[in-house]
Amino acid sequence: MTETEYVLGTHDEEIARLGLQHRVWLAHATAAWGRAGFAEGQTIIDLGAGPGYATIELARLVGPQGRVIAIERSRRFLDHLESERARLGLSHIDVIEADLDRGLDLRFAADGLWCRWVVAFVRDPRQVISGLRGILREGARVAFHEYGEYKT
Ligand SMILES: C[S@@+](CC[C@H](N)C(=O)[O-])C[C@H]1O[C@@H](n2cnc3c(N)ncnc32)[C@H](O)[C@@H]1O
Repeated sequence: MTETEYVLGTHDEEIARLGLQHRVWLAHATAAWGRAGFAEGQTIIDLGAGPGYATIELARLVGPQGRVIAIERSRRFLDHLESERARLGLSHIDVIEADLDRGLDLRFAADGLWCRWVVAFVRDPRQVISGLRGILREGARVAFHEYGEYKT
């Protein structure tokens, strides 16, 4: 998998653009996490985490007794997240390099999942969503912030 396959790129300008976008939408994201019941001590997955801006906020929300698992295809984005994780001392963030188009061969029982601006980029959104069963516990809550129909 090459870095160029993500249509918007994974270069520094895209990392900065996602940071700006994250700051613009942060209040909405925080409200969605509240409605989903995300709380201290939980394990939350950030699916298609990108450079991990939401991952870091979620790590602050769940605290050191919780865990955030960032799943992302781009090594370059994950390098950014890993360096922020070290800089901020958020060792309860786990990073997994995975391509959602290949199916998720992972087993977790996470309490919740956050997925923002990812579904429009995967080949088969239905396959990605049905694959979540293997990484969420029974009764887990999920929150999507998506442009599911990209043409809109
Ligand atoms: C617009 S960015 C959003 C990043 C992050 N969720 C955020 O809110 O800033 C889309 C992300 O989806 C990831 N992505 C796209 N297709 C993917 C795939 N097949 N598997 C894993 N990640 C994918 C990209 O690498 C990129 O990080």
